[in-house]
Amino acid sequence: MKILIIGKGGREHALAWKLSQNESVTKIYVAEGNPGCELLPKVACVKLHKIDDLLGFALAEKIDLTIVGSEELLVAGIVDKFKAHNLRIFGPDQNAAQLEGSKVFSKDFMKKYGIKTAAYESFSDYAKALKYLDQVNYPIVIKASGLAAGKGVIIAPNRDEAEIALADMLLERIFGDSGNEVVIEEFLDGVEASILSFTDSQVIIPLISAKDHKKIGDGETGPNTGGMGVIAPNPYVTDEVNQAFIRDILEPTLRGIQSEKMDFAGVIFFGVMITKNGVYLLEYNMRMGDPETQAVLPLMESDLLELINATLDKQLALFDIKWRSGATCCVVLASGGYPHKHPVGIDICGIREFNAQGCYLFAAGVASKQNQLVTAGGRVLNIVAHGSDLSIAHENAYNAIKQISFDGCYFRSDIGKV
Ligand code: AMP
Ligand code: GLY
Repeated sequence: MKILIIGKGGREHALAWKLSQNESVTKIYVAEGNPGCELLPKVACVKLHKIDDLLGFALAEKIDLTIVGSEELLVAGIVDKFKAHNLRIFGPDQNAAQLEGSKVFSKDFMKKYGIKTAAYESFSDYAKALKYLDQVNYPIVIKASGLAAGKGVIIAPNRDEAEIALADMLLERIFGDSGNEVVIEEFLDGVEASILSFTDSQVIIPLISAKDHKKIGDGETGPNTGGMGVIAPNPYVTDEVNQAFIRDILEPTLRGIQSEKMDFAGVIFFGVMITKNGVYLLEYNMRMGDPETQAVLPLMESDLLELINATLDKQLALFDIKWRSGATCCVVLASGGYPHKHPVGIDICGIREFNAQGCYLFAAGVASKQNQLVTAGGRVLNIVAHGSDLSIAHENAYNAIKQISFDGCYFRSDIGKV
């Protein structure tokens, strides 16, 4: 069985690691992957990015299953194209991918199906958006509707900053077409949780919850990043929170998917805010999270390929996902200066030799230069540790990090402590 994973980060390395454990898998290609993935037996990277090139490769290599890591190609319709050529691919079609690709589409869907979410209005006209600011409370949240690599959300503390955000998006077009429309929504105060789930459009089955750590600095300070670490399970997702999530978000989402005749097998990643007034849906992502995947998959005892196949075969309701006990802590090692300007091409020591009991290394911004592994991005490596509880997982992760070094290596010291 040959698998193609599309993407190049720590998420894709973790997917390749988990899928390679299934004995029927003979080869995994990651497009374009990174040299860290190639340290796994059975895994090879291929430098392909465009849908047509990926399709040609999947046909020529007789790929049995394709899994798409990131959102851009899903929104661009890769699943529809692969299916049109009778290829087996896991993910939403272009229509369902709009639940992530358009915030106006997803908020309208949430409203239509009574899914608990922040009150909002959407605008494409600057003057009308400005007028709406007369009636809102601050802080207020302003979002570019389209994909913006996680940068399209501004929390404006006052009217002046809200006006600047609207002008940037609708007039200056700093996010290009992604900012043709904006959503202005109520600010929610609370704690966030990432709840990844699998769906075959007949049921939605949540995985273990996770908690991202988005800010660059300890204590959740400084600018936002792509994620500096994750823990799983999320300690704030109590039984009570889980029940509210299922009743107010998951069940009406499934009703919406069925009423809209969205028929797909893939992932729904619910980004939720736990507040004193209940659990609210902030957003849908229609793919696995990064770095959530790196913390969640090491807790999964079940075989991931069997789970994906059951989902594609619409047998998900019969699949009992088994989990290990304990917790995981994933710490991101970043280049000094990230999320701002940072150097690349710096030698990394310790990747090939990395060996720590109950720990995993997933590579992200890593390249190979004359057989030496070097930094190639902001977020370079993920070190994940399992422990019988969160504090042991935290300790194990920080001990394992000592095996890795590169000049300027930066990481938060409090993943799992806040
Ligand atoms: P989104 O892409 O919609 O998930 O937004 C990105 C991040 O912005 C979220 O993970 C939250 O940290 C923050 N955010 C989004 N919407 C709200 C909101 N209504 N209230 C407070 N924070 C929000
Ligand atoms: N960790 C957030 C995301 O994958 O979008």
